[in-house]
Amino acid sequence: MCGIVGYVGPDSSGKALEVVMDGLTRLEYRGYDSAGVALVGDGEIVGAKRAGKLTNLTSALAEQPLPNTTTAIGHTRWATHGGPTNENAHPHRGGTDRKLALVHNGIIENFHSLRKQLLAEGVEFSSETDTEVVAHLVSRAYDQAGDLTDAMREVVNTLHGAFTLLAVHADQPDRVVGARRNSPLVVGLGEGENFLGSDVAAFIGYTRHALELGQDQIVTITPDSYTVINFDGTPSDGKAYEVTWDAAAAEKGGFDTFMEKEIHDQPHAVADTLLGRTDETGSLVLDEMGMSEEDLRAIDKMVIVACGTAAYAGMVAKYAIERWARIPVEVELAHEFRYRDPVIDEKTLVVSISQSGETMDTLMAVRHAKELGARTISICNTHGSTIPRESDGVLYTHAGPEIAVASTKAFLAQITASYILGLYLVQVRRDKREGVAEVMAELQAIPAKIESLLEGMDRVKEIARFMADTRAVLFLGRHVGFPVAMEGALKLKELAYIHAEGFAAGELKHGPIALIEPGQPVFVVVPSPDSEHGLHGKVVSNIQEIRARGARTLVIAEEGDEDVVPFADEVIRVPRTQALLAPLLTVVPLQVFALELSTAKGLDVDQPRNLAKSVTVE
Ligand code: F6R
Repeated sequence: MCGIVGYVGPDSSGKALEVVMDGLTRLEYRGYDSAGVALVGDGEIVGAKRAGKLTNLTSALAEQPLPNTTTAIGHTRWATHGGPTNENAHPHRGGTDRKLALVHNGIIENFHSLRKQLLAEGVEFSSETDTEVVAHLVSRAYDQAGDLTDAMREVVNTLHGAFTLLAVHADQPDRVVGARRNSPLVVGLGEGENFLGSDVAAFIGYTRHALELGQDQIVTITPDSYTVINFDGTPSDGKAYEVTWDAAAAEKGGFDTFMEKEIHDQPHAVADTLLGRTDETGSLVLDEMGMSEEDLRAIDKMVIVACGTAAYAGMVAKYAIERWARIPVEVELAHEFRYRDPVIDEKTLVVSISQSGETMDTLMAVRHAKELGARTISICNTHGSTIPRESDGVLYTHAGPEIAVASTKAFLAQITASYILGLYLVQVRRDKREGVAEVMAELQAIPAKIESLLEGMDRVKEIARFMADTRAVLFLGRHVGFPVAMEGALKLKELAYIHAEGFAAGELKHGPIALIEPGQPVFVVVPSPDSEHGLHGKVVSNIQEIRARGARTLVIAEEGDEDVVPFADEVIRVPRTQALLAPLLTVVPLQVFALELSTAKGLDVDQPRNLAKSVTVE
């Protein structure tokens, strides 16, 4: 996820840089590891870009000012391909004449083969990004077509993946051309000036008239016109609307809080984390693993180290990876791992999971593992952060920046990345592919299921509001539902300051059932009726046991699971999926519940008390 802005104004204005920098400031929440601008000047393109926060770019522009022009594009980056460096920052230039500049949000899945092709033809690259490939392709197409819109149309039809692209060309200084597929782009309509942005926050200071684009569309803006076409060249209108949000709400996509927005970002977080993982033959390709297939075959044990929510993602990973890849997996809280003299050696693969990539406890665990000779891989959401830099390899999650302190979309992306790692190990170690494609296909279907789940959360919100005075809530789950129960409890603790505990349902009769008294609310995450070993029936029995002792049972169950109905005070339905993938769905109502209850109590959802987003001390 990155922020992009485009602007084209009247001859007299020359305020393109100001508008674009203003837009980038408002979009910085979408990515802040580098930023850049390109301005269309007198027959040439000038620009600046810097790694790090937008202030680095601002300082660079203060030192070396750029001219006032009428047309510009800008970008604030959340790295996907290529680390956060000056070279990898956008805009990227295309062509030997460098007359084209392009910014991009998303992932070009087939960039490897396109890059290979261009390299073979003698094109020189100055970055590691997938974006630069597109810049060269559009530049070439422009040289043939002589028109930026036509060039863009030709190229987007050869790209796979999710992308929003904006391009400018020195020979057509009165326009910006944008294209979108599975990634956001809105048009801002001004008087004698027009805007493009990843969201309306980009231009809300200038206009409230906006135009929504459809899937697979290209838009060309000039100071006094806009035209929309589909990728096949047919004309389209776009949908005009008025923006009613203020600037602060615009950053949050119209939601009241970043957490609510991030919960709604989850379909994208999962989809983007899946993007670009397979080649043309359907084989998984994990470029940045830093380990050869031979090395991976030599591994005899995995240890996952992480803290908090990330550790619960690790617990889900254990169930999936052991089941699929038949390799022993231990999951350990990073701060415990380091101080207990763990038995690991060069045949151990230590996988750290961290959204920020800066959590000190996790970093120390990775360093300790390396000292002991283990191989290390990081599952991380933040490009260029310390943990992936110090690990042998990395598997980046593509959730985009997570601003709310409580983790939501990063959790789903971490689980998704863990599944990908597990399937990759199946491919490499078990030399078999059957099953992998089926799981990948089901994973691809998950974003739409999360979306439909989110549409039906009214009752969950109502329950949360009724429970604003509740003092304690219990969460039960079994198998992959167990870490989901732990995560549900953690979300409620940190957001609503309510005492909450998550248990493995099988553990109930070994102690926790003593907590059950009349009226005690208990969430139960029920495994799919298709689960192995009769787990579903066992959890239904647990529900009966607690109900018989007066518990108020709030049951999360698959659509069509009627067995739970007689024993549930409330049934919260989730779409059907494969048993091991269920956490990507079952955790969502628990996130919404915690968010709503916190809101009902009037608490600060995005910045709960005593907590920090990134825990950089031990
Ligand atoms: C809970 C939460 C924390 C983090 C934990 C690890 O909502 O966000 O429990 O998951 O502090 O942080 P990262 O993933 O940045 O290492």
